[in-house]
Amino acid sequence: MELEDILQRRKNYTFITGDALEILRKAPSNTIDCVITSPPYWQLREYDDNNNPKEIGNEPDFRQYVNKLTLVFNEVKRILTDQGSLWLNLGDKYNDKELMGMPWRVALNLIDSGWILRNDVIWDQMKGTQSCKDRLRDVYEHIFHFVKGKKYYYNHNEIRVSPARKPKKYNGELVSATGVSGKKYRRQIADSTVLSEEEKNAALKALEDTLADMEKGTIVDFRMTIRGQQRTYHSDSQNVSGRAKELAAKGYFILRMGANGHIPSDIWRIAPEDTWRADAHYAVFPEELLLNPIKATCPVDGIVLDPFSGTGSTVYTAVKLNRRGIGIDLSEQYNETAKKRMAYICKDLF
Ligand SMILES: C[S@@+](CC[C@H](N)C(=O)[O-])C[C@H]1O[C@@H](n2cnc3c(N)ncnc32)[C@H](O)[C@@H]1O
Repeated sequence: MELEDILQRRKNYTFITGDALEILRKAPSNTIDCVITSPPYWQLREYDDNNNPKEIGNEPDFRQYVNKLTLVFNEVKRILTDQGSLWLNLGDKYNDKELMGMPWRVALNLIDSGWILRNDVIWDQMKGTQSCKDRLRDVYEHIFHFVKGKKYYYNHNEIRVSPARKPKKYNGELVSATGVSGKKYRRQIADSTVLSEEEKNAALKALEDTLADMEKGTIVDFRMTIRGQQRTYHSDSQNVSGRAKELAAKGYFILRMGANGHIPSDIWRIAPEDTWRADAHYAVFPEELLLNPIKATCPVDGIVLDPFSGTGSTVYTAVKLNRRGIGIDLSEQYNETAKKRMAYICKDLF
């Protein structure tokens, strides 16, 4: 079986033609590191020219669609390693004027069948296509990040975004990326009528240590919260916020922004791909969309699988990032396109 070629490292990518559920059912358990996929959306497009009854997305009732996807992702859960991740891209659908909430219908079903949802990434595609006069344009889709267990592989250092601005000296004084020098905090601590002398000394020491770290370049920015001066960010209730607990116990806390950059947010502004539209495929993944999922949740040389691989974007990007890739698609024609695309990058890579 083609899958064996990848597992035994005889090849670093493969495309398998057939029904995702049937193929996954034959695959061994606990072998795949990461699955990234965009299944056909419900009643939105027809991909196969031959009206293949196995094609997902044409079910008359949306519940059948949700159930079919749940069966596929139950198999995905079985073949993922215990530290594996699933990234699932889904778009919504209007039915008789009503927004269906399809991505969440599927996501909630997956949660109910044992998946742990870690993120709902909003993919802001920036431009919508339709021109409706009685509602807003739709410009986003969901990318859900699911894991199998609480201890999963996640290399956050691979996806950190470098801070746009660094600390600078103004008139001999070091000022953080967003203009914080510590002067205001020093004054607030000294003038405080609610901190004890001991708390004041500890707060000042923590502030000076933080400024020293900024001078050394290990952090680029910070914020200090002092009892009686600033509020905690989320809640003052100690039951809700760990920060509120810290504030109550010590009289202050400091949030430090490291020089290694920050973790990307859960809103991704990425324009949809249209380069491979010449091959008559819709909904091609832009390469940029795949970078963070692959880098963060598949180790180098690990295996990325896309059970609805279309033109093979997931496999293509995985191989480019030194991972192994497996694509499954019902359509022979799309797999041929994917193989052509791979030949195109492989000539640069190998
Ligand atoms: C949204 S497209 C995926 C596009 C892909 N992300 C890309 O970058 O090209 C969904 C794909 O699912 C395939 N498909 C539909 N039903 C399927 C099934 N039962 N098993 C496997 N693939 C299926 C379609 O042929 C189509 O290529």
